[in-house]
Amino acid sequence: MGTTANPPVLEGALMEAPTTHPTLRSWVSEIAELTQPDSIYWVDGSEAEYTRLTDELVAAGTLRRLNPELFPNSFAAFSDPKDVARVEDRTFICSESKRDAGFTNNWMDPAEMKAILTERFRGSMRGRTMYVIPFVMGHLDAEDPKFGVEITDSAYVVASMRIMARIGTDVLRKIEETDAFFVPALHSLGAPLEPGQADVPWPCNEEKWIVHFPEERSIWSYGSGYGGNALLGKKCYSLRIASVMARDEGWLAEHMLILKLTSPENKVYNIAAAFPSACGKTNLALLDPTVEGWKAETLGDDINWMRFGKDGELRGVNPEFGLFGVAPGTGWGTNPNAMQAIAKGNSIFTNVALTDDGGVWWEGMTEEVPAHLTDWQGNDWTPDSGRPAAHPNSRFCTPITQIDMLAPEYHDPEGVEIHAILFGGRRKTTIPLVTEARDWTNGIFMGSTLSSETTAAATGAVGVVRRDPMAMLPFIGYDAGDYLKHWITLSAKANQERLPKIFLVNWFRRTADGGFAWPGFGDNSRVLKWAIERIEGKADAVETPIGFIPTGDSIDLTGLDMTPANVEEAVRVDPAEWVEELKDIEAWYDRFGGSLPQELTDQLAELKRRFAEA
Ligand code: GDP
Ligand code: PGA
Ligand code: MN
Ligand code: MN
Repeated sequence: MGTTANPPVLEGALMEAPTTHPTLRSWVSEIAELTQPDSIYWVDGSEAEYTRLTDELVAAGTLRRLNPELFPNSFAAFSDPKDVARVEDRTFICSESKRDAGFTNNWMDPAEMKAILTERFRGSMRGRTMYVIPFVMGHLDAEDPKFGVEITDSAYVVASMRIMARIGTDVLRKIEETDAFFVPALHSLGAPLEPGQADVPWPCNEEKWIVHFPEERSIWSYGSGYGGNALLGKKCYSLRIASVMARDEGWLAEHMLILKLTSPENKVYNIAAAFPSACGKTNLALLDPTVEGWKAETLGDDINWMRFGKDGELRGVNPEFGLFGVAPGTGWGTNPNAMQAIAKGNSIFTNVALTDDGGVWWEGMTEEVPAHLTDWQGNDWTPDSGRPAAHPNSRFCTPITQIDMLAPEYHDPEGVEIHAILFGGRRKTTIPLVTEARDWTNGIFMGSTLSSETTAAATGAVGVVRRDPMAMLPFIGYDAGDYLKHWITLSAKANQERLPKIFLVNWFRRTADGGFAWPGFGDNSRVLKWAIERIEGKADAVETPIGFIPTGDSIDLTGLDMTPANVEEAVRVDPAEWVEELKDIEAWYDRFGGSLPQELTDQLAELKRRFAEA
């Protein structure tokens, strides 16, 4: 620890560091010296600590306490209007070689990047508390627990991390006992306070850097307080860094929900589904089936770590501890199970609207729109204000254990066998409601060419179609071609009999009159039923150049105001649309340069041949 740079209080606080772990002690001291906080606080993860921190955040104006009769122990936060989403253009993978970051990532030489960031972080915590959060992604009693320690100067981040990950003293003890490696994850709002300077409710910096060093497995995040940029266990660790660990260690870190389905015959099927951000993962993970006799239980809603088990079966586990869900569109009608979990309280909402009785509201929460609200920017709002009351990327952050339909296997570090994989996106045209892949490699091809309209989950234009391989475009921590190759080589060693069936889905296709071709939400259970009946060899399908689609009457429409002809419309493969699609896929594959696996080039050639012969 330096002697000149730090006020004496820091030296004392560090002496009291509640750990003997040498690497952790020296890293914390190094960062304190660089960032110059007023004090250091080691997070224990207790309820009392959470209460104290949220009280402080209420006093500081960052959090608003909600009416406890409506939402017990819950709070609303309102961000700086320029800090509302992930910043993909400010996200970097700083591998030693540029080639290893691939064309899908921003890259800078690690030494150059560290030089820049060191200057940004110098003194960046002045006037603030530096919190040290020990955390584990996945289970503490996993065979190979994945540890991290986040240093942050944001109490909002500490409170949110307590919901989203397993944190605190138990984790710290285990890191010490096993002398474990931990991912050092450094976060600063980049908003130091000079003596006497008043704070703002949502400190952040105009300049943002979300940076990953894959070889040393470290994260440096600067300037943003928004979840996906600041809760470093989530996207930064569990997807970007973990995907690199997974490549090196022989597993898969994926942007997927996990859902357990039980059929009327009491057979269990676990489904993993990769959809881009704000394309329906949390909703499908909390599915309320409308189809008779089927039971759904939640395992995960955003991240799925998969490995092949002893018998060559694919197993998935959700490394998270909470939900960080898109608020708008989540309602008693569309997603009652999410509403039930939220209503239990203990949640932090960000950028939603406030009701006059101290509750929260967002577009789609209730059918009836309140006559008056305070919008996410603090303005009076009425239904004819002509703008959304909640930000389109407003979020609820809720403990996953509050979900009544949580599957007991959620608590099992071994995870569950995955029987089917869905890839899906948000496409108005072209992509059928559901298509079954011809085989595993064809399914990987489907995943590699997945496309979706951009959403408010990231800054930038909304509604632009882009390719998003396996819904991992913003999260692959290395070269995208190598990532696809990893899927292929890893699965080649698995039990081929037990490889999951792969499906491509699109809940967002439109009809000629502009409406949704499929009602979605709970009715997606009907599509899942068809998929499982395909696994069981029971449901009918039609072969098309892109794969197998349902016949009009093979999807159970009982109780729905729809006809088999409507299904045929929703699953139609339109040759004219596919002429354009194939061109776009070809252009996408061209961007990989040399790193695209030959197996996938072959898949594209075969798809083109099948269309030519159709
Ligand atoms: P996630 O970000 O992938 O977890 O997506 P969410 O499940 O939070 O959903 C994002 C948005 O898509 C929300 O506004 C949902 O209401 C909407 N959505 C989710 N599932 C469906 C569906 O099946 N059909 C339609 N039309 N919208 C959906
Ligand atoms: P989402 O999670 O996938 O539920 O939107 C956050 C994100 O991906 O940014
Ligand atoms: Mn996500
Ligand atoms: Mn989600």
